[in-house]
Amino acid sequence: MDAAAWNSRYDTTELIWKGEPNQFLPVEVNGLTPGRALDLACGEGRNAVWLATQGWTVTGVDFSEVGVAKATTLAADNGVAGTWICADVTGWTPPSDGFDLVVMFYLQVPAHELAMALRTAVAALAPDATLLLVAHDLLNLSEGHGGPQDESVLTTADGVLDSLAAAELSLGVELIVERSGRIDRVVSTPDGDRTAIDTIVRARRVGGES
Ligand SMILES: C[S@@+](CC[C@H](N)C(=O)[O-])C[C@H]1O[C@@H](n2cnc3c(N)ncnc32)[C@H](O)[C@@H]1O
Repeated sequence: MDAAAWNSRYDTTELIWKGEPNQFLPVEVNGLTPGRALDLACGEGRNAVWLATQGWTVTGVDFSEVGVAKATTLAADNGVAGTWICADVTGWTPPSDGFDLVVMFYLQVPAHELAMALRTAVAALAPDATLLLVAHDLLNLSEGHGGPQDESVLTTADGVLDSLAAAELSLGVELIVERSGRIDRVVSTPDGDRTAIDTIVRARRVGGES
């Protein structure tokens, strides 16, 4: 989906993904000291806004101006601030001083675009910073519930790790992969609970790199 399609999807008064953070975010950032956080493809801002309520100084980037406007409103409704940028994350240049946490949730785009977005994510990491990606896994198509049904935009942990390795090489930084694989997510439906299968990758940039 391009930015225009996302704009029309977001063009409703209610929030598509509600205002709550993704269920994996609080667990995965537990123990990190709040600092500067970047949410790439932030959409309506649920994850960035939650991080802001936890003391992080957040920046959200998304190419949908309607999404970004909703994120701005969600932040205000929660009494927190944020920097909200309308930009394409496959080509965006992050500030050189970097972020302590970079998150990317459910950016479902073809593999070459995801690789470019992951390069942006790695470029945005300050030394010792954490990168967290969660996305609909390819396995979800055959074994899970919901999510995009187009296999070209679904992820695998191995595919994400390959893109991260390419980004490390081209940017001259080193990552330590702390977690990678599939993770099951319980989804409540009118017919009862279902299981969705996500890809999760969490990595940390090795400190002291220039
Ligand atoms: C499924 S939504 C997820 C939103 C948010 N991360 C969340 O979990 O609530 C995917 C988001 O990716 C954004 N997006 C897709 N391609 C993008 C790109 N190339 N640059 C910036 N944002 C993009 C869309 O506008 C949309 O907000």
